[in-house]
Amino acid sequence: MRCFLPKKIWIFIFLSVLLLFSLIHYWPPEGNSTVDVGPSQSQKAFNVLKERLQDVTRSYENIPYVPKEKVAGRLAVNGCVCEADKKPAIDLPFAQVLFPRVWAQDDFHTAFQRAELAKVKNRRKQEFNSLLQRYRTPADVLVIAEANSPLEYPTQGVEVRPLKTVLIPGLGLKEKPRPLYTVNLTATLGTFDVSATVDGVSVGGEGEMHLYLSSGVLSALNRQLQFVTYTNTLFHPRTADTVQFETDGHQAVFTIKVGHAVTPKLYYSGVTEEYNITALVTIATKTFLRYDKLQDLIDSIRVFYPTVTIVIADDNEHPEPVKGPHIEHYIMPFAKGWFAGRNLAVSQVSTKYVLWVDDDFIFTSNTRLEKMVDVLEKTTLDLVGGAVREATGYTASYRHTLSVEDGGEEGDCLHIRQGFHHAVQGFPNCVVADAVINFFMGRTDRMQQVGFDPRLSRAAHLEFFIDGLGSLHIGSCDDVIVNHASKIKLPWGKSEKEKAYQNFRYYSPGSGQIRNSLFFFKNRLQCLSSN
Ligand SMILES: *[C@@H]1O[C@H](CO)[C@@H](O)[C@H](O)[C@H]1NC(C)=O
Ligand SMILES: *[C@@H]1O[C@H](CO)[C@@H](O)[C@H](O)[C@H]1NC(C)=O
Repeated sequence: MRCFLPKKIWIFIFLSVLLLFSLIHYWPPEGNSTVDVGPSQSQKAFNVLKERLQDVTRSYENIPYVPKEKVAGRLAVNGCVCEADKKPAIDLPFAQVLFPRVWAQDDFHTAFQRAELAKVKNRRKQEFNSLLQRYRTPADVLVIAEANSPLEYPTQGVEVRPLKTVLIPGLGLKEKPRPLYTVNLTATLGTFDVSATVDGVSVGGEGEMHLYLSSGVLSALNRQLQFVTYTNTLFHPRTADTVQFETDGHQAVFTIKVGHAVTPKLYYSGVTEEYNITALVTIATKTFLRYDKLQDLIDSIRVFYPTVTIVIADDNEHPEPVKGPHIEHYIMPFAKGWFAGRNLAVSQVSTKYVLWVDDDFIFTSNTRLEKMVDVLEKTTLDLVGGAVREATGYTASYRHTLSVEDGGEEGDCLHIRQGFHHAVQGFPNCVVADAVINFFMGRTDRMQQVGFDPRLSRAAHLEFFIDGLGSLHIGSCDDVIVNHASKIKLPWGKSEKEKAYQNFRYYSPGSGQIRNSLFFFKNRLQCLSSN
């Protein structure tokens, strides 16, 4: 019997063979596959969540409502402003000290040329979006569990290591009697399987992103659901998969976190019960043109802490030796700047805590570092500020709160206010704030993570706390006091060196421009207000 295949079939076979060859040729070799770590993968998951949220929020749209102004006004809207307080009609002396008025700045954008501002904004938008894509996971997105679903599932807390497998706990179906029960599971970054089979349940899609189970016996199906496993297949060190779980007429979504365990960074500081300051703390400072003051600081430290390590970052043009035991002196390029020096000094610290001091501070018997260590050891604070006493006797701890208001496309608004959030239980002299004075002790690794932006070369301080907002937990204790070598001097009483220092630190052309450009672009702010 002869059989002639039609021409179409021949073409089909020919194309199939061709396809097979190209598949073999281009199939990525095992273990050496390239993986898309771009945003498109997690974007799929975001889209699933977004669609569901829209469905939920769209219901009941036709029912009228009356807004409650007082409460509604407190909700964030897509836009913000930085407003200065109006000048009072009568300008009393000391009014600013007694009732600090809010001032505002909204010209950050002037750091850029008017002609290129549109391009800069566009670039800022791109950078911001790619930052969001890198740091947000579907586990950060709002998920709503709808009422009356017969589906039982874990809303949060399922975690898997990259490319590893876990059992998904808590899956179940609570359905009225019916002839056939079915459930489906769909993932985007991994596959499902069952670690055991149950009689009377049919399972499809094992080893794939879509698993379906059905059975005529509800209890058998529920038993089978206890053996469902999830395997992550797309490597990512920190992300989340979105799993859709559905049965006839009902849908649920939950996330499975995918990620390596965070590698801990612990500091060994001996086994004594008492705080060993030498083992726990490094003192860091930056010096410029003030070797006499620096020596006074070192001498005063040595009275109380003879063996604690002192790290000095030095960007003098003609560096002088700073001698003594337990001193690390780092010479930097000339006039590298204030934050670059802080950054270098802090980068060299190998103890659990680092204490920041200015080079014109003086330790006294009130400078009890043990108190700061105690607060950091016994609370979740990452950083705690002290107080600085001026020669006049005036003592400041410079506590501030920071808040960022969502400003949409134009960038956000930063509001800086004097004050603090609340007291710290068990430490009557300590409060929680967002920014403190330039005398503070912090967890070394946390401070290194935030870093001091080396582009801020002159007067800068709050900028570190703005960068750390949302990641550093900050306190302030006014019973740990360091003295400030006198700053208030009449101009004709200043030495040549002091005058040069003032010029460098405070009157550098262009430094305001750099600060504004960092606020505008790096921190994505449109304005700030402060008091
Ligand atoms: C479950 O998946 C199967 C196979 O993809 C499909 O035929 C069925 O309609 C799905 N059921 C539900 C409830 O989504
Ligand atoms: C404190 O720590 C330092 C440095 O680790 C060590 O040399 C010293 O012996 C310790 N002191 C005590 C009392 O344990």
